[in-house]
Amino acid sequence: MPKVVIDGIETEVRNGATVMEAANGLGIYIPHFCYHKQLSIAANCRMCLVQVEKAPKPLPACATPVADGMKVMTRSDYARTAQDGVMEFLLINHPLDCPICDQGGECQLQDLAVGYGKSASRFTEEKRVVLNKNLGPLISTDMTRCIHCTRCVRYGQELAGVMELGMIGRGEHAEIISFVGKTVDSELSGNMIDLCPVGALTSKPFRYTARTWELSRRKSVSPHDSLGSNLVVQVKQNRVMRVLPLENDELNQCWLSDRDRFSYEGLNSEERLTKPMIKEDGHWREVDWQVALEHVARGLSETRFKYDPNEIGALASPHSTLEEMALLAKLVRAMGGDNVDHRLRQSDFSADGKRAGAPWLGMKLAELGQLDRVLLVGSFLRKDHPLLASRLRQMAKLKTKLNVLHCADDELLMPVANKLITRPGDLVAALAQVVKAVAEVKHKAAPGSAARPGRSPRASHRETAPRCSSATSPRNTLKARSCSVLPRTSPACSTASSDSWARRRTASAAISRAACPWKAA
Ligand code: SF4
Ligand code: FES
Repeated sequence: MPKVVIDGIETEVRNGATVMEAANGLGIYIPHFCYHKQLSIAANCRMCLVQVEKAPKPLPACATPVADGMKVMTRSDYARTAQDGVMEFLLINHPLDCPICDQGGECQLQDLAVGYGKSASRFTEEKRVVLNKNLGPLISTDMTRCIHCTRCVRYGQELAGVMELGMIGRGEHAEIISFVGKTVDSELSGNMIDLCPVGALTSKPFRYTARTWELSRRKSVSPHDSLGSNLVVQVKQNRVMRVLPLENDELNQCWLSDRDRFSYEGLNSEERLTKPMIKEDGHWREVDWQVALEHVARGLSETRFKYDPNEIGALASPHSTLEEMALLAKLVRAMGGDNVDHRLRQSDFSADGKRAGAPWLGMKLAELGQLDRVLLVGSFLRKDHPLLASRLRQMAKLKTKLNVLHCADDELLMPVANKLITRPGDLVAALAQVVKAVAEVKHKAAPGSAARPGRSPRASHRETAPRCSSATSPRNTLKARSCSVLPRTSPACSTASSDSWARRRTASAAISRAACPWKAA
């Protein structure tokens, strides 16, 4: 492992590490804009210039690999002069609109200009102006502020899997544009806002609503991506103003999916029910909490005396907190019932009692990178788990072979080694064949019914629309699509449950299917 001396401190780093990584390891800050630890190296801002002994000119720390015995000075006069010069160039065309810029207070350029810039500009010519772009409802642009670090472009290409932004022109004519006037529609687009070191890309919903120093911060967990991504909820006067990712390498790294980032808008929606209401004579009436709670208590008491305890049950929204669910279970049990469930979209309960604990991935997300093969079954991965899709995209670009078994030919925006698109009704048989093949390769007996798969799967790479096994109408196509979103369940439209409580849950699943987002899609 090479040894390097940075600002007089010696350290040992892994082979191939850059000066920037070595300095970070020592806690030495080197100013930078285009460098980001999760993105490829572009080395186009030149803000990270440092002095390297015996080198004829300053070198970019983010793109210079460490060599054994190297001596680096990050704060020498020579390095400072280079950094000051780059900052002066960057500020030539950057507008001095900090007082009205949404990035004010959390702008990397603003901070570094204070630390590394001169007190006055020598530039007296007119600054250039770049027209703003319409990137859709989430990202607002002020492209004159752009310093062409290309972080947004690289994020789209490398992590989101789709190059929706690119740079055209050279020198003073360089600008970031979307692909032929299109909007940025990636499910991870909000991360470009975080990455932009200046105020060129800002959050449209948050724009001009608060200053960063006015916001109090609360750590929380994402409610929508099923990963428990860490996030920070930022609040002003008891109103959630924005949500940002909280870095956690084990889970979401430093990213957040758009639905977790922007769904706070629903909290402030006028359509949200914030006051209790009671329906009387077919009309909803707003009441105060005391009246509403008495109404509920009366209803529950009547139910308790009118019905057999076995007929009493409660379905909780899976979005409820554990505390809310525990209280609901307590309430139902106090009424004598024991039927409490949260699986609103599940219709096949045949595995109940056969499994121990909650089903889970079987390994930590951070360990996924060790896999050389992945089999994805029945998941609209980019919609269901956008950040997991991003991780798999990185893996698929390296050594991991991604195999897909699904009822719809979903565009994953990553290399797929093998793909089997089958009818929803054939999915279980196809999976059984996979299990049987694995057992054969491993010289083991296939478990139970996998050894005798029923219908053979109909592989078709041409078949892009999922079809329902029980009917061919467009409505059932939607049904099939919605039930195939559920992992480890049979299609709801072809599965019947026997006992009465399970029948109710099936009815609930049907209701939930009616409200399924796929139906609106
Ligand atoms: S828009 Fe922001 S992130 Fe993109 S290149 Fe310009 S400064 Fe960098
Ligand atoms: S951070 Fe090194 S060149 Fe931009």
